[in-house]
Amino acid sequence: MIRIANLHLRYQTDRGSVHAVRGISLEVKPGQFYTLLGPSGCGKTTTLRSVAGLEKPDEGEIFVGDDLVFSSSRGITVPPYKRDIGMVFQSYAIWPHLNVFENVAFPLREMKRKSQQEIRKKVGEALALVQLDGLADRPAPFLSGGQQQRLALARALVKEPRVLLLDEPLSNLDAKLREETRFELRELVKRLGITTLYVTHDQLEALTMSDVVTVMDQGGIVQSGTPMEIYQAPQERFVANFIGLTNFLKGRVRSISVGKNRLGEAETASGNLRCVLPDGIAPGEPVVLVVRPEDIQLITAASDRQENVLSARVEAVIFMGDALECQLSVGSQRLRVKLHPSTSVRQGDTVCLRLPPERCRALRGS
Ligand SMILES: Nc1ncnc2c1ncn2[C@@H]1O[C@H](COP(=O)(O)OP(=O)(O)O)[C@@H](O)[C@H]1O
Ligand SMILES: [Mg+2]
Repeated sequence: MIRIANLHLRYQTDRGSVHAVRGISLEVKPGQFYTLLGPSGCGKTTTLRSVAGLEKPDEGEIFVGDDLVFSSSRGITVPPYKRDIGMVFQSYAIWPHLNVFENVAFPLREMKRKSQQEIRKKVGEALALVQLDGLADRPAPFLSGGQQQRLALARALVKEPRVLLLDEPLSNLDAKLREETRFELRELVKRLGITTLYVTHDQLEALTMSDVVTVMDQGGIVQSGTPMEIYQAPQERFVANFIGLTNFLKGRVRSISVGKNRLGEAETASGNLRCVLPDGIAPGEPVVLVVRPEDIQLITAASDRQENVLSARVEAVIFMGDALECQLSVGSQRLRVKLHPSTSVRQGDTVCLRLPPERCRALRGS
C-alpha cells in the first residue's frame, strides 16, 4: 500500500521556484498496478522520487504500508534505504563496470549481513524471474536494451521489496519490444502480487497495464479511474484530448430528460444532438460534446425520425491496415471517424453518420 496526502514540492532554481507537485493525494491498494499518466513535465517523476525518498517534499505525508515515511508537519523523513522499496529508472542506472550477477547482488551486498550462499540464491531467483539466468557472468554493457531493462527490474526485486516504483521503464525499447514487454511486466508484478506505482507519458501503456490510471497535468491530478472509465468517460477536456483520438463539438444544453442515464439534448452547429450530460447542469449552459472516432457509425439511409443522424462529406480516407481513418465535414465541423477496413467509402462521398447518444458525452465549458 502507498498513500500520499496533499503533497507539494517546489524546486529552487536560478530563475526562481518551480512548483512541480501541487497538492497530490492518492492511494495505491495492496497488489494494485497503479499508473501516473501525463505529459512531460507534469510532475510524475517528482512524485515517484518523493515516495522513494530521493526528493524531499515541502508539504504532505507519505505512507508505505503502515509506515509513515514522510511527514512535513511531524518532521519525519525516513531515508530511502529504510523504505523497503524497489525502483527502476528510465535510464535503468545499471553499473557498466559490473557483470549481470554483481549488478543484482549489489543491493544485497550493501545490507552486509547476508552470506555468500544466500546472495547467490537470491540473485539466482531474481534473474530467473526476468529470464536472465544463464547470462549471470556477462558484463552489463553487453546486454541488449530489453535485457538491460530486465536486469534493472531484477535488481529492484532482489530484496523482495513491498513496493515497486517504475519510472518509464519501457521508453528506451523499440516499439515491438515495448509492446511485448508491457504484457510480460504486468504479468510478472501481478504474479508476485507486489504493489506497483508506474509512471508513463504513453497512454497505451497506461491503458493496457494498469488497474488504476491517474491522469496528471501541471503538478496536479485531473482524473483517476480504471482504464475503461478514463477512456470512455473522461470528465475533463484535457483527459479526453490526452487519451486517444477524440472529436469535440461545441454546444449548449437545450433540454434535460429526467431519470434515464442523465441523457439530454444539446444544440450544436451540426444540429441538436442527444447526449449524456454532466450532473447538475442547467439548460442554456455551454458544453463540449466528446465523441470517439470508433463510436461513430456509418449508416446507409437516414429516415427522418432517427436521432443523432448527420449528413457528412468525406474529405479524406486513410488506410491504416486494421481500420479506415476518415476525415469528414458536417458544415464547418470536422469529424474523425474510424471504420472497418472493408467499408466502401471514398473521398467526395456524402454519407449518413449516427452518433449514439450514450457515446456522446457532454463536458462543461466552451
Ligand atoms: N532537479 C530539478 N530542478 C528544477 N526543476 C526540476 C527538477 N526536476 C524537475 N524539475 C521541474 O519540475 C517539473 C516536473 O518535472 P518531472 O517531475 O520530472 O515531470 P515528468 O516526470 O512528469 O516529466 C518540470 O517543470 C521540471 O522542469
Ligand atoms: Mg519523468
